[in-house]
Amino acid sequence: MRTISAVLAAFAAVSAAVAQQAQIKERPLPRLVKKDGRFALFVDDAPYLMLGAQAHNSSGWPAMLPKVWPAIEHLRANTLEIPIYWEQFEPKPGQFDYSVIDTIISQAREHRVRLDLLWFGTWKNGSQHYMPEWMKADPARYFHLIDKNGRPADSPSPFCTAAQELDVRAFTAFMRHLKAFDPQRTVIIVQVENEPGTWGPVRDYSPAAQRLFEAPVPADVLKAMGKQGGAPVSWQEAFGVEAEVNFHAWAVATYVGKVAAAGKAVYPLPLYANAALRDPIKPGAPGSYESGGPTDNVIPIWKVAAPALDIVAPDIYLNEPAQYLKVLELYHRDDNALFIPETSGGAAVSRFFFSALGLQAIGFAPFGLDYSGAPAVPAGAATAPPAGGPAGASAPQDQFAPTVQNYALIAPMMRDIARLNFEGKFQAVAEEAGKPAQTLQFGQWIATVSYGASRGGRGAGNPVPTGRALIAHIGENKFLVAGYSSRVDFRPAAADQRRQFMRVDEGMYEDGVFKFIRILNGDETDYGLNFRSEPVALRVSLGVY
Ligand code: DGJ
Repeated sequence: MRTISAVLAAFAAVSAAVAQQAQIKERPLPRLVKKDGRFALFVDDAPYLMLGAQAHNSSGWPAMLPKVWPAIEHLRANTLEIPIYWEQFEPKPGQFDYSVIDTIISQAREHRVRLDLLWFGTWKNGSQHYMPEWMKADPARYFHLIDKNGRPADSPSPFCTAAQELDVRAFTAFMRHLKAFDPQRTVIIVQVENEPGTWGPVRDYSPAAQRLFEAPVPADVLKAMGKQGGAPVSWQEAFGVEAEVNFHAWAVATYVGKVAAAGKAVYPLPLYANAALRDPIKPGAPGSYESGGPTDNVIPIWKVAAPALDIVAPDIYLNEPAQYLKVLELYHRDDNALFIPETSGGAAVSRFFFSALGLQAIGFAPFGLDYSGAPAVPAGAATAPPAGGPAGASAPQDQFAPTVQNYALIAPMMRDIARLNFEGKFQAVAEEAGKPAQTLQFGQWIATVSYGASRGGRGAGNPVPTGRALIAHIGENKFLVAGYSSRVDFRPAAADQRRQFMRVDEGMYEDGVFKFIRILNGDETDYGLNFRSEPVALRVSLGVY
């Protein structure tokens, strides 16, 4: 047992650290900005693209961090997403332990990495598994929701005011501490809860919940869901087969919204909630996916019930290209910045990072990219240690490689990409099987991105679709072009004109600056601009004849 003097010493150390932080000049607060219909995450007062990686669920402990930082460095990720556990943070009622948070933040600064902290509070994947032990031990007070058969489910009730008040208190303490401890803004965004909602039961069937289900739907929910005003209607009358899932979304979002609002009131960092998805193309009936979270069908409910959240974000673990792209489209909305806080990072989908950039994504983070050895991929995947991983690392090689390749190109040019995207001068695409070419319009220029093209021939698609390209309009008749496994060419929109390359500079970005290597010409440009597997960027001047 800790003595009083040990507790006082620990308190003094934390106070000293906080006081020291107070001497440090405050950097501008990170914020989500919308202009001309486009969003950007501003960090240090300029658009920032989160090149993220999420650590495994049990990696947010000081003893595990040595297995996290080398992976982040190897990936060239600029932002680590890592959980903060309520059970660790509040070991006894009302006593908060900031030591783990401070260690994570201090080490992130040493590694020059920003943080997205994930508040594993009332919900983690639909359950209450990260509630402090003293709460789990009192299910009568901190009750679970009741399923259709009248039994408690492995999911907290969104109507449990006692738990909500404690989550509000703990999250507020956490945010207040961030404000005091982090004038450097190492933490740039916070996730409130994790995949909130419920697996199995579609909603809470307790008598109290049932009464609310039979009561009129709040007017703002009806309006958000495009229902006409008029006489008050129950959830069933308003929404039919979607009534229960909409009701649960409203209940969960209202709870999470209160937690978020309380935290934001003390420290207004950007906040978001993440969703376990439903099939975006052929959604199953309610009950076949996690109910209550911000799935695509209930985003408007989340927006009105939890306005303190800046973003609702999809966790994309879908390997079917059409599904992946549909999710990006569904979460890229006029009222929602696209942000992918979790995704599988495997070769099958990593190119869609470029598709997300093409929709002004503010961030992208494959899940489970650390060297803790926790399972991140299905059984049977290659298990060689990743390059740069410590001896004995067991994270599979091909889990890291696609993200390494993406970030090798984008990390050094991150600020330019984020700015050009925010200014509406940027487009990016990824290859889809059966579509060997895509066209992009830039004013009087039409760019064609093709895949699998031989010397002078037309592209037939890569044998395995991996191509991706980005193009930014950086001046009159001038473009920044980069990509992998693709060819880019331009033609004037005017039919009577033909393009000529005035000059093509090949270079590499270093710390945000384009470093000229050579002028490309002859075989290297006669058939277009070719990108293989090396990270290069081209600055292209076009003319016509
Ligand atoms: C989605 C969750 O949000 C993550 O915390 C993690 O559990 C992943 N699934 C994969 O295991």
